[in-house]
Amino acid sequence: MKPNQMRTLGVILSAVLLMLTVACGSSGSKKQEPAGESTPASTTETKTEEGDAVSEPKIVLGFAQVGAESGWRTANTKSIQDSAKEAGIELKFSDAQQKQENQIKAIRSFIQQKVDVIAFSPVVESGWDTVLKEAKDAGIPVILTDRSVDTADTSLYQSFIGSDFVEEGRSAGKWLVDTFKDATEQVNIVELEGTTGSAPANDRKAGFNEIIVQNPNLKVIASQTGDFTRAKGKEVMQSFLKAHKDIDVLYAHNDDMALGAIQAIEAAGLVPGKDIIIISVDGVHDGFVAASEGKINFIVECNPLLGPQLMQAVRDIYEGKEVPKRIVTKEGVFTSEDAKRELPNRQY
Ligand code: AHR
Repeated sequence: MKPNQMRTLGVILSAVLLMLTVACGSSGSKKQEPAGESTPASTTETKTEEGDAVSEPKIVLGFAQVGAESGWRTANTKSIQDSAKEAGIELKFSDAQQKQENQIKAIRSFIQQKVDVIAFSPVVESGWDTVLKEAKDAGIPVILTDRSVDTADTSLYQSFIGSDFVEEGRSAGKWLVDTFKDATEQVNIVELEGTTGSAPANDRKAGFNEIIVQNPNLKVIASQTGDFTRAKGKEVMQSFLKAHKDIDVLYAHNDDMALGAIQAIEAAGLVPGKDIIIISVDGVHDGFVAASEGKINFIVECNPLLGPQLMQAVRDIYEGKEVPKRIVTKEGVFTSEDAKRELPNRQY
């Protein structure tokens, strides 16, 4: 073989060797996913300052929802799912069916999956320290949405985004005090409480009681949980109506229970909104319809559209920015007249 033929062969052999090395190297460094785990995180496309498109791994958010107990919850879930999609955040969603143990299981599974951020709406206020500490030890930040926890260690979560439930209870109480300011006899109130031990049930009750003491004629004669559902609201109202012939006011901690109670009141031959004055909390579409028909007299709004604020907080925390420890949702109050006017503009 001539020297120039030898050189050509050498060049070809080196090129083949280099190709083999690159191929082996790349397959050798590829991250192997353990069996049974999810596929590698998807990516999202962002632009550099110069306008070049770059592909980055998506932020992964694990969200443990309370359940699907009410119209409010349905609107809240949709807001979170839509906003995650819009923000390019990968959402791992779990529905706890109103059970704390399911939420704890979901949070532990998010920790195992090494999500970037965990958010959840705690079904009840107490009993979260252990699992929150596990998330903290794993270096995964936690955001509370809608409902809070009663831990003494506030370093266990980064931020709490949601309504001021005590203020909602106060708003309900203020309207009642004003409506019955001229009452000379006892006004009998029955109360449908939310899920026992939940922040909205505890706080809406506390805020309401704090205000109605201003008028000694206002008396809560019966109070029981309706678990924030329409079916339970109806059932408990039926038993209230059986036990008390002289109910003047119903205070329901949410629209769904008020709507169930309205069925019971009508079945008992009474006129909701007239024979029994009704106050509820939320302001979902069906609640607004009942208010515009005069069946609910006063609604204190509780805004479920927390998705956009949550996604902003997730991104900020992921990027190491400061987020406020408490983000309070703005909301209003509506009489039947307001509801009639506002109904076409309601988003949920
Ligand atoms: O935590 C918010 C409350 O939960 C809403 O008022 C109620 O409808 C829901 O189930």
